Amino acid sequence: MRIFSGIRPSGKIHIGNYLGAIKQWIELQNKNEAIFAVVDYHAITTPFTKKELENDTLDAIFDYLAAGVDPNKSALILQSQIPEHLELSWIFSSITPLSWFGRVPTYKEKVESNPEYVSLGLLSYPALMAADILLYGTTHIPVGEDQIPHIELTNDIARRFNNIFGKTFKRIKPLLAQGARIMSLQNPLKKMSKTGDSGIALSDEPDIIRDKIKKAVTDSGTEIKYGYDKPAISNLLTIYSEFSGKKIAEIEKEYAGKGYGEFKKDLAEIIVNGLKDFREKRKKFADNKDYILQILKSGKEKAQKQAQQTLKNVKEKIGIII
Ligand code: TYM
Repeated sequence: MRIFSGIRPSGKIHIGNYLGAIKQWIELQNKNEAIFAVVDYHAITTPFTKKELENDTLDAIFDYLAAGVDPNKSALILQSQIPEHLELSWIFSSITPLSWFGRVPTYKEKVESNPEYVSLGLLSYPALMAADILLYGTTHIPVGEDQIPHIELTNDIARRFNNIFGKTFKRIKPLLAQGARIMSLQNPLKKMSKTGDSGIALSDEPDIIRDKIKKAVTDSGTEIKYGYDKPAISNLLTIYSEFSGKKIAEIEKEYAGKGYGEFKKDLAEIIVNGLKDFREKRKKFADNKDYILQILKSGKEKAQKQAQQTLKNVKEKIGIII
């Protein structure tokens, strides 16, 4: 498999990003060629300040490394440092019917949450994501469930390109984990996101984690049981299972007859412990910007050649003189 995945540096990376995406990356990098990107050009399609973008970008890379992304096994890249992403994205936005972009659910969500910040960049976001993926001959994308429409659109764009200009791109497949859909601790019907107080950041201190789990909403009743009628507890059970390695049925059995209070207290400790290693590693990297720049440089060296080749091939196929 050839793996590509990325995260937008638009807030702190949370346990949803970790359980949905990064946890898979760590496994996949051992046996596959893998590229992990911080997609900063995607981050500017929603409101941001200079300081936030700079900090979130560096923080994201620190988080990748502390979570176990190994720059000796994979290539860690910053999207904006490899301009081929934008070039291919422009070609994709030009050959894709406008109506395909307006249908994407994340676009509609963002229009709703920031109606005063709806830009051309936000609309053509999936063309850039398709470019990220298709530049590298990627076959599999480890992501959370919310990215499925983007993956489908990537395949649609690839098929359209192939139909017009001849077979160029392969079909890609998402890789989904058990934690592919971690919900907000405040509203279990909405996904955990980087904005607001809905999630636990990987870099949250233990007491903050304890407090957030204590304040997490629960369902009516007292039973620790997974099911559609218990979205809040089901979400907490998924998180418990992911961090402890225990099956959900096993956890339900363990807490039979016990209340939410005890379950939440244990869950908080399991998360705090599960992130202990991360916290320690994160402190070691903290603020070592030079180290980060070095890693990005070597990531770029590993990845860019392939991107240039793909782009050259695409340009030739469409009649751009090189
Ligand atoms: P982003 O930054 O929103 O999220 C990064 C990754 O985390 C997953 N994720 C979740 N998984 C489980 N539960 C959640 N609550 C949760 N929230 C987020 C996402 O599915 C994603 O895998 N468009 C992408 C970034 C991107 C990209 C790419 C990804 C740009 N180019 C190429 C893969 C390949 C995004 O906004 O992810």
